[in-house]
Amino acid sequence: MGVNPTRRQIVAGAAGLLAVGGTATTTTAARAAPKDFLWGTAISAHQSEGNNTASDSWLLETITPTAFKDPSGDGCDSYDRYEEDLDIAASLGLNCYRFGIEWARIEPVEGMFSEAVLDHYVRVLEACHARKLLPIVTYNHFTVPLWFAMRGGFEVADGADLFARFCARATEKLGPLIGMASTFNEANIVLLRKVLPRFASDAAAENARAMIAAAARRTNSPRFSAMLFGDPEKISRVMLDAHIKGQAAIKAGPGNFPVGVTLSMQEIQGVGPNNRATQAEETMYGGWIEAARQSDFVGVQTYSRLRIGDKGLLPPDGSVPLTDMGYENYPHAIGACLRYAAEHIGRPIYLTETGIGTTDDAVRVKFINDTVAEVAKCIADGIDVKGYLYWSLLDNFEWTSGYAKQFGLVAVDRKTFKRTLKPSARTLAAHARANRL
Ligand code: BGC
Repeated sequence: MGVNPTRRQIVAGAAGLLAVGGTATTTTAARAAPKDFLWGTAISAHQSEGNNTASDSWLLETITPTAFKDPSGDGCDSYDRYEEDLDIAASLGLNCYRFGIEWARIEPVEGMFSEAVLDHYVRVLEACHARKLLPIVTYNHFTVPLWFAMRGGFEVADGADLFARFCARATEKLGPLIGMASTFNEANIVLLRKVLPRFASDAAAENARAMIAAAARRTNSPRFSAMLFGDPEKISRVMLDAHIKGQAAIKAGPGNFPVGVTLSMQEIQGVGPNNRATQAEETMYGGWIEAARQSDFVGVQTYSRLRIGDKGLLPPDGSVPLTDMGYENYPHAIGACLRYAAEHIGRPIYLTETGIGTTDDAVRVKFINDTVAEVAKCIADGIDVKGYLYWSLLDNFEWTSGYAKQFGLVAVDRKTFKRTLKPSARTLAAHARANRL
């Protein structure tokens, strides 16, 4: 969530701090998590690495007009500081690390693959293993190379083959070191936009259209298409094909690890007679439930609930506090979506993302404890939840909302890039270290 440009409310050292201990209070009696349960955090390449200059997003963030509040710029400088990030994750007692490899860096020009950049990701993967963090790799997290956007992105059919070629080339070098992988992050993100029109502001939608038109003019590419802003139907069709082909390319190896897809899953609640909840669900997931059934696992990514009446999405009803993103702070949605995934997909489930945008870290502490309680209830009910990854390790580039929206367990100074742990980092650490839900 938090990337839809058309919504009005778009929509000290780690070890030292940890010595103080954490607060892992849950609302239910804590119980042991399954032995191999994965505890981690998630982050994406573009949102943390910085200076992803060959990507479509870099152009969109810096063009006039733009839908982005800030350019991503230096990000968290994680391209250079990945060891520091991994040290923090390891110091929190986590056992996995979900991050992205950036297609725009690996293939900055069509057909030209950078061995040096792939070597960089080899080093990141080795650094994960050295810290006993299972590397969970996202092959695509919204951004694509600029050249790919210029030729029509995922709105043109052969975009699927180009994505699959990238997957094959990256796997050739990285495969032996990967622990788990997903082709796309929130593969259905573009469909979510179709469910949210009630929050659309005409001005924001117009601004996004004008931004894409400006990018098309600047690059002399009439078919310019960026995943978050393009035609949902066309993009979804090509991405489904890209997922199937990309998944096959990754599974061809080298390496032997589970390959899945992560989905944006929000709890859909029908309100009143003739509500359109079922239609909203069908729209939001498109063919992705079926696609996930053919994958090794599904990553559930839940941020809130959507209340659907007879005319579509209803605004928040005031009964629940809002996050800084403008949607409801509603952890119940996490359990609901894990159950939905179990019922409709039936593959092993990882909660690959959930988190909260707030400057009040006490709210985040409670959100983490509530999340753990939701996961615990699901597992007690026999649902095969195999891991929980908090979004995000660091305060990072929150897409169109820029840097003001903070999801991190760790604050990042925007000038020095110094990382400072927040109390919520200790909360997650306390659960992870005890392996208790
Ligand atoms: C996305 C992240 C984003 C987060 C918070 C998820 O939908 O995968 O990229 O930062 O939500 O909005």
